[in-house]
Amino acid sequence: MNKTAIIRCEHFNSAHRLHNINWSDEKNQSIFGKCNSPNYHGHNYDLEVKVIGICDPNTGYVIDTKILSGLIKEKVLNKFDHKNLNLDTSEFKTLNPTAENIAMVIYNILKPELDEGLELKIKLYETRRNCVEYPY
Ligand code: NI
Repeated sequence: MNKTAIIRCEHFNSAHRLHNINWSDEKNQSIFGKCNSPNYHGHNYDLEVKVIGICDPNTGYVIDTKILSGLIKEKVLNKFDHKNLNLDTSEFKTLNPTAENIAMVIYNILKPELDEGLELKIKLYETRRNCVEYPY
């Protein structure tokens, strides 16, 4: 039996600053540019959570979207929406909050919450033109 992917789209707004404490201010500025701005800046993140698996023959669902959306809201949006990722979250105290790392953190939060047979892929848009996928 073929697998099916179900995708839930969500949205959150967060502030961040990209900065490597091991580098000089000049090097941080040259690598991260505007995203190194010392007083932080915001992004409107679009999140796609893709769950892949065999449909349950009893429900016809890969996963109930009510369960999936509730999980994302409780575990991800409540944590990151309208927050400063560097200052307000434990995950990015030492990890640079790039789109790549945010996608990985979201994956690591959600994966243990899913049934074992289900695969998970995270797609995160930082802008309309820039997005990342994890894992790839
Ligand atoms: Ni930025």
